Amino acid sequence: MQILVTGGLGYIGSHTVVELLNNGFEVVIVDDLSNSEKFILNNIEEITGKKPAFYPFDLKRKELLSQVFEAHNILGCVNFAAFKAVGESQEKPLEYYENNLFSLINVLQEFKARNISNFIFSSSCTVYGQADKMPIDENAPLKTPESVYAKTKQMSEEILKDFALANRKKISLLRYFNPIGAHPSGKIGELPIGVPNNLVPYVTQTAAGIREKLKIWGNDYPTPDGTPIRDYIYVVDLAKAHVAALKKLISEKSETAIDIYNLGTGKGSSVLEVVRAFETATGVKIPYEICDRRAGDITMAYANADKAEKELGWKSETTLEEALKTTWKWQKYIK
Ligand code: NAD
Ligand code: WQD
Repeated sequence: MQILVTGGLGYIGSHTVVELLNNGFEVVIVDDLSNSEKFILNNIEEITGKKPAFYPFDLKRKELLSQVFEAHNILGCVNFAAFKAVGESQEKPLEYYENNLFSLINVLQEFKARNISNFIFSSSCTVYGQADKMPIDENAPLKTPESVYAKTKQMSEEILKDFALANRKKISLLRYFNPIGAHPSGKIGELPIGVPNNLVPYVTQTAAGIREKLKIWGNDYPTPDGTPIRDYIYVVDLAKAHVAALKKLISEKSETAIDIYNLGTGKGSSVLEVVRAFETATGVKIPYEICDRRAGDITMAYANADKAEKELGWKSETTLEEALKTTWKWQKYIK
């Protein structure tokens, strides 16, 4: 029951490693630490009492990857490793295509060569762009992506579907909405490098006094309070969905499977609602100013996650306020 977790020291990866270990899986992590830190490995051990195998190298190094497969009896993979900054992806398209696609293909080559199935991929609601209908279900058409990052997610999905069909493999494409929060222990969480782009890390750093005030990117959207709406999903709930998706793939009788699931709460929250929820959860006031819209932002995205509930027996359990409380605990830990 050894599972390779690429990017397993990153934000969502580390929470998923904890859930996999808690569910009796053995975990083998490959992470080059390009967007994570080594202390997360010790903290995973503190939380679970178990130590995953860890290999610090870039997945583009095929020979090292091959050695990991040689050393372990890998049953499946949860593939988190990727660059994820939308703005940066526009400035560095080649780096994004190279990292996100080659590292994926290298793992798939090993799967093919060694006849391994059960591959879970971190996709994103970004593949839907501004969907025509809310909530968004898995049959919503994929829109032409706005960013290179989003293109890598659409391309990866296509690569994986072709791979599964041609090689008779079982894959699961998990389309996350907006992951937030940290582990209740406060020992693992999101580690944004530099100025955060995402809303919740920016709010949290503002609360901590690292940022002066939150800039709200536009309040003239066609939503009840004028600010855009997203589906904020608690990272531990999200991590549990990976375990459920993996168990389903492993027990799947047919040789080939292509599972696609939206992972969200099904509930949309506006930027102002997030700010208020943070204030209620922590008692800390968030100074903010309303600014112009941010280029590329969509008005609204929230999930219909019924398919995941029906087929995986999974649904999100944690409220926005509870999730934000954990973020604050983590922020105080890393300060
Ligand atoms: P993260 O940056 O915290 O984690 C990614 C990890 O992969 C990092 O630890 C990084 O060091 C590692 N990595 C990157 N390239 C690598 C390579 N070539 N070789 C080895 N390790 C490498 O990101 P995250 O937020 O945990 O996201 C995980 C996955 O989920 C990504 O694929 C991301 O695109 C996807 N996703 C994230 C979000 C989000 O908002 N966080 C939403 C939807 C999808
Ligand atoms: C949420 C809302 C902003 C920061 C991004 C990626 C997407 C996916 C999820 C990976 C928006 C507003 C934000 C700030 C603000 N990631 N905001 N002030 O835009 O839904 O999507 O993360 O796949 O690909 O693009 O998330 O957290 O950046 O923004 O007002 O300082 O908060 O305008 O309405 P988004 P976000």
